[in-house]
Amino acid sequence: MSAPTADGMPMLGLGTWQNDSHDQCRESVKTALEMGYRHIDTAQAYGNEAAVGEGIEASSVDREDIFLATKVWISNLSREGVLSSTEESLEKLKTDYVDLLYVHWPAREYDPEQTLPAFDELYEDGTIDRIGVSNFEPEHIDEAREILDSPLFANQVELHPLLQQRELREYAAENDIELVAYSPLARTDIFSDPTLGQIAEQRDRSEAQVTLAWLREKGVTAIPKATSEAHIRDNWGSLDLELDEEEIELIDSIERRTRQVHPDFAPAGWE
Ligand SMILES: NC(=O)c1ccc[n+]([C@@H]2O[C@H](COP(=O)([O-])OP(=O)(O)OC[C@H]3O[C@@H](n4cnc5c(N)ncnc54)[C@H](OP(=O)(O)O)[C@@H]3O)[C@@H](O)[C@H]2O)c1
Repeated sequence: MSAPTADGMPMLGLGTWQNDSHDQCRESVKTALEMGYRHIDTAQAYGNEAAVGEGIEASSVDREDIFLATKVWISNLSREGVLSSTEESLEKLKTDYVDLLYVHWPAREYDPEQTLPAFDELYEDGTIDRIGVSNFEPEHIDEAREILDSPLFANQVELHPLLQQRELREYAAENDIELVAYSPLARTDIFSDPTLGQIAEQRDRSEAQVTLAWLREKGVTAIPKATSEAHIRDNWGSLDLELDEEEIELIDSIERRTRQVHPDFAPAGWE
């Protein structure tokens, strides 16, 4: 089985935030790659790029068959900071390019006129295959696209049945930007939702699989973090689950809303 792709990006990937033990993170990455995953998501701030690099190296999968994404942290967003920290990321990841490099948050040192031309430079010299942003609202994206010379490929945001992000999904569709869902399992909150529980029971699947199938149906890429082989496998199993229209509508109509990630430097207006 392989994941469908969205403009070259596998629509199911492995998240690694808080996969903090070096050995465990390396094993999770290796396990996922050997199971069929071809998209790995990390970030400078996770402190595990070296473990991710080792996991890739230890696996039987060639680097060029893997879609590898990392993110530049908010303290590295000056022009020099972007260039030097990306070089360090590549060294840790043991690679000479990444498939996708994100601005992690429009915060702290983020200055569109400084930060984005540095991303353009990395794109032009082939160090990064695609440019992404994360936690951007439509107004940040409009501004970024005016400044960037290179195409803006993706926006990575929190998105799951308990935070459905309709406005951002419409914006992404209209502007031809891929959406990548982080915390797609609402950091385990989805397991206590009765609608997802009911569908999972009827289909004899896990709530995680139902949620990931719903995201795929919406055209959204998902990067669930899983540490154990059992969770990594369970999430992979979502790929052969097709929800029917009624099930999709039921999930669409879930009213409970919860946002899991809201640091104090988040964009104004987040609750
Ligand atoms: N751009 C950003 O600002 C940002 C912010 C947050 C996250 N992210 C990215 O998105 C990834 C995913 O988000 P997340 O880590 O916040 O949360 P998540 O993927 O929604 O949830 C992870 C939690 O779910 C558990 N889990 C995974 N699969 C499971 C399954 N099949 N059954 C039961 N439990 C399961 C994991 O446990 P185990 O670990 O024990 O398997 C972990 O506790 C991150 O790892 C990171 O790569 C990006």
